[in-house]
Amino acid sequence: MSEAARTIPAADAADLRGAVRDFYTARLNTGCCGPSTSNVVFEAAPDVPSFGCGDPNAAAAFRPGETVLDLGSGAGFDALRAAEAVGPTGAVIGVDMTPAMLEAARAAAERLGLQHVRFVEGTIEDLPLEDACVDVVISNCVVNLSADVPRVLAEAHRALRPGGRLRISDTFRFGAAPEVLDRDAWCACEAGAHEATLFAAQARSSGFVDVRVDPAPPGIADGDTYGAVLHGTKPAIDVEVDPSEGAELIEAAGLPLAGWDAANVVRWGVREAGVLLAVIALERHGDHGLLRSLAVAPEARGRGLAHALVAHAVHASAALGLHDVTGLTTTIPDLLPRWGFREVARDALPPALTASPELQGACPASARAFVRAVAT
Ligand SMILES: C[S@@+](CC[C@H](N)C(=O)[O-])C[C@H]1O[C@@H](n2cnc3c(N)ncnc32)[C@H](O)[C@@H]1O
Repeated sequence: MSEAARTIPAADAADLRGAVRDFYTARLNTGCCGPSTSNVVFEAAPDVPSFGCGDPNAAAAFRPGETVLDLGSGAGFDALRAAEAVGPTGAVIGVDMTPAMLEAARAAAERLGLQHVRFVEGTIEDLPLEDACVDVVISNCVVNLSADVPRVLAEAHRALRPGGRLRISDTFRFGAAPEVLDRDAWCACEAGAHEATLFAAQARSSGFVDVRVDPAPPGIADGDTYGAVLHGTKPAIDVEVDPSEGAELIEAAGLPLAGWDAANVVRWGVREAGVLLAVIALERHGDHGLLRSLAVAPEARGRGLAHALVAHAVHASAALGLHDVTGLTTTIPDLLPRWGFREVARDALPPALTASPELQGACPASARAFVRAVAT
């Protein structure tokens, strides 16, 4: 679901992964990496090396009984602490692609007698887990090592239950990325460090809300890297919101309530503590989708709910067999291009859409049209 991509100087993803695997196998007994482990104080740290660059667990504030997923769990430093924190009624899954790391982590879990933590071989771009199975996703100094950050975020989103938390501790860069790939610097979590604004935008495009990155420490200069945590939440999105329930939000946003093609509509909403905070609808016309009635309650604006609902509708459109999704707007023509849509002339829209009640009059003539292809 990404619109913008991090530039990676000429590199093949599988090749980079191989280099990362070798790098960490060679450093298993020494620990390494990241610019900021030194200023984090850990209480009751397990006796395994840390390769991290911050403390995702502190940011996650685990509750007993929760299920936690650690992306790139290494020798188990954060996963084992998470297992202590959630207790035996909870569970922790560490995923890592380096066999030597997995072996070290499993041995430590056994030494500590922790039976509710397991370490699974796999990649964070293709998690060996079912949908919506964890409450919290953490990661420590790993996502920057991936050549496909949007895919990692999409997988984290898939694995999380609605309402679940994402806490990625990682390396960030202030200023421009290097133009030439230095493999050792990549493996040491320096060269692939995130640009905070881009990483946050990618998380929003993947459907997360309340996204923020901890501020950079003072005194950072152009080209420096630093450790920080990206925070986000997977919103609880309801399917089949009753049309009358969203009417108040839609009217307050100045959007038309008439002109629905009622037989072909799917509606989603974000509800918190029983209150509907945002809605969107998708009308199906042949293999084209038409977004309608995107509205967010005033008190919930600025959290990324509209972006998350659009991302959800685009994602769901693939499962509905749609080829593309169109949005007509007078109010957010600046946002849709940032969310991966491109503007098209209204008379260039497919006949199935132009024949719809929305385009036949419900929508003002001044509304501009934006289209996004649906990845299948
Ligand atoms: C810098 S270490 C961090 C380990 C651990 N999170 C910690 O803080 O100690 C990076 C770890 O991520 C794993 N890793 C890197 N890229 C990965 C990927 N694409 N899929 C799965 N694991 C990956 C490596 O094998 C290594 O164990």
